[in-house]
Amino acid sequence: MDKISILQGRRVLLGVTGSISAYKSVDLASKLTQAGALVDVILTADATRFVSALTFEAVTGRVAYADMWQAHAGGLPTHILHVGLGEAADALLIAPASAHTLAKLAHGIADNLLTVTALAARCPLLLAPAMDGGMYEHPATQANLAVLRERGAWLIEPDYGRFASGLEGKGRLPDTARLMGELRRVLGRGGRLQGRRVVVTAGGTREAIDPVRYVGNRSSGKQGYALAQAALDAGAHVTLISTVALPLPVGAELVAVESSAQMLAAVQAHAAHADALIMAAAVADFRPPTIAEQKIKKQDDSDAGITLTLQRTEDILMAVKAMREVSGMPRVVVGFAAESENVLANAQRKLERKGLDLMVANDITAADAGFGVDTNRVTLIDSKGAHTSLGLMSKAQVAEAVIARVATLLLD
Ligand code: CTP
Repeated sequence: MDKISILQGRRVLLGVTGSISAYKSVDLASKLTQAGALVDVILTADATRFVSALTFEAVTGRVAYADMWQAHAGGLPTHILHVGLGEAADALLIAPASAHTLAKLAHGIADNLLTVTALAARCPLLLAPAMDGGMYEHPATQANLAVLRERGAWLIEPDYGRFASGLEGKGRLPDTARLMGELRRVLGRGGRLQGRRVVVTAGGTREAIDPVRYVGNRSSGKQGYALAQAALDAGAHVTLISTVALPLPVGAELVAVESSAQMLAAVQAHAAHADALIMAAAVADFRPPTIAEQKIKKQDDSDAGITLTLQRTEDILMAVKAMREVSGMPRVVVGFAAESENVLANAQRKLERKGLDLMVANDITAADAGFGVDTNRVTLIDSKGAHTSLGLMSKAQVAEAVIARVATLLLD
């Protein structure tokens, strides 16, 4: 698992309570640690019936606590364990949070290390309820959750599905990716793009020929999704206009589109109120003028081909340029230039023609950059013509560099 900047060196206090889903928290503790977080785990006595402190110690490389009277391992701001753990933490995430622990938290009961630490802590509190049968929907649990939400706790809604009992319902602990995404949202609050609206496009458009076939542009959408995640980490409200079905970053609003015409309409609707638009999508420049209603059949006993006539699609960034001339929105517009030759000169020309604030130029002939792979090698070009070459890095790192520039352009 790659390092995640927003989790780097952050102290995450992970509370684990008595639920069969406690085994999933081990994966969460492991992934958070691999991503660069310092994970201190507190288990309730009931949690230790499902999974041991030693299991967490093995994956986090840190002491895990299960006893209120335990001596602490050092490195805390005070020698009082529950106060020290709470004061040191950037966030307290209780996953799974049993109905019993939620009830105690709602009433300020502090009878074990986890609940006493939750009372002492001043960091954000995230709760991931997990319970079987009708427990989650029960009015007592819902009333406790309402109290906790009102007090500022961040509730992570459980998944619907099959319980350990064999019953079905709402109350399953969400998977690690979702829990990490929720934690990123909380840690990202107050970031440089707090309160800003960012629209990102991702993937290649598909221009239908008939009900089965299309002409399209190669693009995995990975860079666009990484940009959406980086904007979320910076605290932005993010709309992702996408042609692909990658896992959606937690907190992003998805607008699913297929064709360049649909993407144009979605960009016009959403970018009109946005602070920034980042056009990472590979938009088709040509499309069939009409879509055949039925599948085009080949003729039996003939190897004759067909001729496709293509017409130009509308350039979305040119439409946005016209929109900006009237309304001034979006305030910052970023384009991507996928080039196979004269990379910088072509990218610079496109930046000027499309009236962009920033162009991200990449050489698609390099094996380790561009389509499908997880790395990229780009040069950022701004409207004054200044070039910054970023070297080979992950698409997540490229995304962070682009988002940092967007924030500077918006805030300066
Ligand atoms: N783009 C767009 N609308 C189009 C085509 C491209 O908004 N119909 C955007 C892309 O999302 C990208 C930028 O324009 O941010 C540059 O795209 P690219 O395909 O590199 O350039 P084109 O303008 O299509 O020029 P060419 O195909 O001639 O290289």
